[in-house]
Amino acid sequence: MKNALVVYHSRSGHTRRVAQALAGRLEADLEEIRTRRAYGGTCGVLRCGLEAALGRAPAIRHAAHDPSRYRLLLIGTPVWAWSLPGPVRAWAQGHPAAGVRLAFFCTQGGSGAERVFAQLQAATGRAPEATLAVTEAQLEGELDPLLDRFVARLATAETEPPPRRARAAAKPR
Ligand SMILES: Cc1cc2nc3c(=O)[nH]c(=O)nc-3n(C[C@H](O)[C@H](O)[C@H](O)COP(=O)(O)O)c2cc1C
Repeated sequence: MKNALVVYHSRSGHTRRVAQALAGRLEADLEEIRTRRAYGGTCGVLRCGLEAALGRAPAIRHAAHDPSRYRLLLIGTPVWAWSLPGPVRAWAQGHPAAGVRLAFFCTQGGSGAERVFAQLQAATGRAPEATLAVTEAQLEGELDPLLDRFVARLATAETEPPPRRARAAAKPR
């Protein structure tokens, strides 16, 4: 088993791409959050947005990895209707990982990341050491330096004592 776990949900592949790149850099295990029901077509898109906006948590499939067994947990999510997607909310609420180092990342069209990170913090009950928001435009061309900086921040946070980590997490990025 590896030291880090990257957990993510992705509808159209953007967050999956970031998750895979981070897992490669961190030599982490990878877990995709999958819903029991399919979210296909226009109805599926509407349901995604509505569930996220209403704070719902749909049924998700059994996860293969137990996050409490890792030293570092990264949770990745898209932004839906300026809100945390239901599948990620469901996973976070069902998989407490007290004592495991925590970081969040998201992909978005252009706005909503800060709100999503706040909602993910509420769902996990924990502040992340670091966050990374990637816009669709940044996925093309700018992704590598963003990932390098994020991974470097995680490495720095690992050497800091916990109270400093919490202060670093509270700083706007
Ligand atoms: C239902 C729905 C709602 C969305 N709402 C937002 C939004 O509020 N703000 C935003 O910047 N992007 C929004 N987007 C765009 C996605 O966040 C963006 O395309 C993201 O990269 C998708 O990630 P994925 O490919 O991993 O699913 C929305 C997309 C969908 C499908």
